Amino acid sequence: MAATAEDRSREINYDESKVGTYVLPDPLAFADGTPVKSPEDWTARRRPELAKLFESQMFGRLPEAARAVKPRCVVTSEAKDALSGKAARRLVDIHVGDDPAAPAIHLLVYLPANLEPGRRVPTFLCLNFWANHAIADEPGIPLSTRWIGSGAPAGVVDNRATEKARGSDHMIPVERILARGYAVATAYYGDIEEDHAGAMKNGVRGLFLRPGQVEPAADEWGAIAAWAWGLSRAMDYLEAAPDVDARRVALMGHSRLGKTALWAGVNDPRFAIVISNNSGEGGAALSKRNYGETIEHLNTSFPHWFCGNYKAYTGRPDALPFDQHEEIALIAPRPVLVVSAEEDRWADPKGEFLAAKAAEPVYKLLGTDGLGLDTWPTPAIDSLSRGTIGYRYRPGKHDVTVDDWVAYMDFADHHWNIRR
Ligand code: GCU
Repeated sequence: MAATAEDRSREINYDESKVGTYVLPDPLAFADGTPVKSPEDWTARRRPELAKLFESQMFGRLPEAARAVKPRCVVTSEAKDALSGKAARRLVDIHVGDDPAAPAIHLLVYLPANLEPGRRVPTFLCLNFWANHAIADEPGIPLSTRWIGSGAPAGVVDNRATEKARGSDHMIPVERILARGYAVATAYYGDIEEDHAGAMKNGVRGLFLRPGQVEPAADEWGAIAAWAWGLSRAMDYLEAAPDVDARRVALMGHSRLGKTALWAGVNDPRFAIVISNNSGEGGAALSKRNYGETIEHLNTSFPHWFCGNYKAYTGRPDALPFDQHEEIALIAPRPVLVVSAEEDRWADPKGEFLAAKAAEPVYKLLGTDGLGLDTWPTPAIDSLSRGTIGYRYRPGKHDVTVDDWVAYMDFADHHWNIRR
């Protein structure tokens, strides 16, 4: 008999004394047990071996046709006097296939106002949950016509946006970001694929099915891999943009989009910094540590997020041939920042810290520093450690706060030597 929601919630552990024991795989050992001895061993052999495992067992591989896409980017509007003159705003449609039915990813870009010609600014890129019209109350941003989840902060009726939704999402404090000299680019994740189990057909995964194929194979992409692929298409545009410093693009994601940011960061080295905010299970938190959300919960409540093969690990985290510290390690030597929130026990803040710590040997092998912390900085304070693996543990709930953004920008300033 299938477990009820209540049964499952009883299985969720929040008691540190009941976490039990678990063994983390060594990122610096090949699958056959032999040690990884040099940066070359890591880069040429161990990294590809590990990335393949994550791909085939968890996120799923991209179909060849998706890999080959060169998007067509069309600037649909430019406003020099957005946000009461504080910003320039650009809208870009990113067409991801020749098929006229192919969805366009609508990218919203805010740049500091009055940039001198030729100036390129470092940029934060993130997917958003509630569509671009919710980021700022500006009538120049078209209302999304896509399905939008029912948890939206305002103005969503029967999963469709209404005018009341404008400016209702406070996840991106655009003016604060611009004031620090950064640009920000964002797109609605539902433009790539809507976030429900039946959405595959209308999203990019449906677009790239082979003739006769009705759903992705067990080792082919789930929705998170599709969203991550969409982030790389946004990066294709940012590389071509005249005013973006494409060598300094920081990718940020919260929660399920934090899981997405980590996987996008693994696959696309153009993301120079990767920021995971409260990404939890399937993101920065260790899966083998029994605390908070479980693989079983992910696979039951969000069966479309991961590839079919991941279902085999429901209730069997010990059988996983890797753990999430190794996903963080796959981003090395690029800076990665893991942000945890004290009240977000579902996401297992301590498990996120331990994963960041266990990624350290790879960062050190590649000649960078690591986390620079040996113990979990508890109780939470508004802190930021700025090692190449950064960590922040703050009081409060599962959310993105303005202070989190201050920390992301401090982290980027530090690693990019930006002095103010
Ligand atoms: C749920 C889910 C988490 C996810 C979160 C979110 O809580 O269980 O894994 O991170 O949603 O995306 O907000």
